[in-house]
Amino acid sequence: MTDYKPVRKAVFPVAGLGTRFLPATKSIPKEMLTILDKPVIQYAVDEARNAGIEHFVFVTGRNKAVIEDHFDIQVELQQTLEERGKQEALDILSAALPAPGQTSFTRQQAPLGLGHAVWCAREIVGDEPFALLLPDMVMQDEPGCLTSMTRLYKNTGGNIISTEEIAWEETQNYGIVERGEDVNGGFEVKGMVEKPPKGTAPSNLYINGRYILQPEIFDLLGSQKAGAGGEIQLTDAMLKLSASQPFYGFTFRGRTFDCGSKEGFIRANVAYAMSNPEFAGSLRSELLELINSAPAK
Ligand code: UTP
Repeated sequence: MTDYKPVRKAVFPVAGLGTRFLPATKSIPKEMLTILDKPVIQYAVDEARNAGIEHFVFVTGRNKAVIEDHFDIQVELQQTLEERGKQEALDILSAALPAPGQTSFTRQQAPLGLGHAVWCAREIVGDEPFALLLPDMVMQDEPGCLTSMTRLYKNTGGNIISTEEIAWEETQNYGIVERGEDVNGGFEVKGMVEKPPKGTAPSNLYINGRYILQPEIFDLLGSQKAGAGGEIQLTDAMLKLSASQPFYGFTFRGRTFDCGSKEGFIRANVAYAMSNPEFAGSLRSELLELINSAPAK
């Protein structure tokens, strides 16, 4: 087996405007909205840490400073909890905290799209493969999606895209991959298309927000013109890179919640609450009551 350069760094683009959550996101970044007791961003950071990531790179924007605060020690709170002997609360805080020096924050000065946000991380990532996690996409699985992807990467090297099956009618709303031969528990990616017109999708596997990419993607992103919606598109740069480097697909079999949308966010809260013994029982009866009393459509 070849030894491929390890994936040590993860990039989290968190500079989007979050307009779908206004007015909440006027002053709170959407990544800080909570699913139960953890902010959305914490789920992706925990997933990355469990996959062995050692350095966490956040591409932030204006009004996002609170994300940096979340991954720092809150000295006064810590002291007060210590004085009051609140060990459980202290443990919760320390579990969320990356070690000193493990985080970097850089700003995307204008929201020019996901591809541009990723490009803003180029100096911090340097010349090594990296993981890219879109924090809006909260993934519930054991082991985490990125852990499974890094296992595949150890066998294949190259670039890896996580994908997931969706209903064929929905393919027009997503980035879709064309599936090639099976390889080592994944598959060869033969093509990618962003939001294919109805009836033209090459598969029903959508790109669901987790990637392992080689650093050559940065030059392509840097030289790219704005695509759909006037934004610099990541899929366009990946397509170009696939002309010279292998891309493999990983099929995620857990549950993904798109917490960039209100419906996905609500679903995530219900799903995480239902998988927590503290809430599952009482919530179940409450949900059933609500369903039974809701007017039929
Ligand atoms: P979205 O497409 O969800 O856009 O971004 P958005 O602006 O965050 O949200 P809405 O549509 O206005 O509600 C997908 C991911 O890319 C990041 C977002 O933070 C999110 O993680 N992103 C998007 C950036 O970092 N910069 C951008 O310019 C655009």
